Amino acid sequence: MILPTRIGLTRRGKPFFLVANRAMLPHQFLKRIFVTWNWRLVRSSSQYYHLKIGRYTIKLHPEYFHIIFGEWAEWKKYHLPPFSLKGATVLDIGAGCGETALFYFIHGVERVICVEPNPDLARVISENLCSNKWNAEVQARSFDTEMLNLDFDFMKMDCEGCEVRLLGADTLPSCVMEVHDEHILHALTSKFGLRVANSNMVGKNSCNNDFERRQFRMYYLGWRFTRVREKFRKTTGLRRFFYAIILVILEMHPDFASVYRARWGRVWETYYFPDKGTGEKT
Ligand SMILES: C[S@@+](CC[C@H](N)C(=O)[O-])C[C@H]1O[C@@H](n2cnc3c(N)ncnc32)[C@H](O)[C@@H]1O
Repeated sequence: MILPTRIGLTRRGKPFFLVANRAMLPHQFLKRIFVTWNWRLVRSSSQYYHLKIGRYTIKLHPEYFHIIFGEWAEWKKYHLPPFSLKGATVLDIGAGCGETALFYFIHGVERVICVEPNPDLARVISENLCSNKWNAEVQARSFDTEMLNLDFDFMKMDCEGCEVRLLGADTLPSCVMEVHDEHILHALTSKFGLRVANSNMVGKNSCNNDFERRQFRMYYLGWRFTRVREKFRKTTGLRRFFYAIILVILEMHPDFASVYRARWGRVWETYYFPDKGTGEKT
């Protein structure tokens, strides 16, 4: 289990836990612990953390440690398609230190092609794939549409905006991706039928995958959160405590992370599964 190294109070009197040199609120830490209870930090320095998950130990730059620690639950929700990836090859665009490759290996993938243009990070991926004997290769360069001709079954893309290059492609492979700009989102949606994911993923209720409806639900949750936060700031005493509890409850909502990021961070989790009958354009 990854435990906090310090517990303290912020200047405003809020309790915080210090985990791997980063402060987080107690409920944020608890949320992560449910998912990462069997993880272990085996070694750490100011430069790198060595994280053990199952039979794999991965070397991570601190920023990428916090990405894997904070986003694993979301990846389970949004980075796995509703069909099995057992034995598949995944094209991982924006591979970081190899944390998403690790995620896919743990979920039964046979091979990962890691695309990462940052040479330092690409070196860390190479070390990780050697030490864990992963069936993987590193492409230390930026994504370009020619990579769509590589031999793979499924693509994950999170590359800080490089998804715009997909607009130059004729077709999209089966994929999940983070889109960082609303205009690109609309362009990809109308060109390929890319969908914005919801917490139930696909198949159960296709209405829930409707972009407008989802945006409305996300907007409403974000709107409520903002209102409660304003009231929390204005009130004192017992009322303030009441609003603090409502804020925590809203933050626990399974869609909250997406809402927060779509409203304030402007990031959309999307998917496209053309061969599986769930991602066609309507
Ligand atoms: C947020 S991190 C991804 C973290 C994690 N692997 C994931 O998928 O959630 C985004 C990564 O995309 C990489 N990146 C940025 N521009 C890129 C490009 N043009 N092509 C491929 N990767 C890119 C960055 O170096 C960074 O490591």
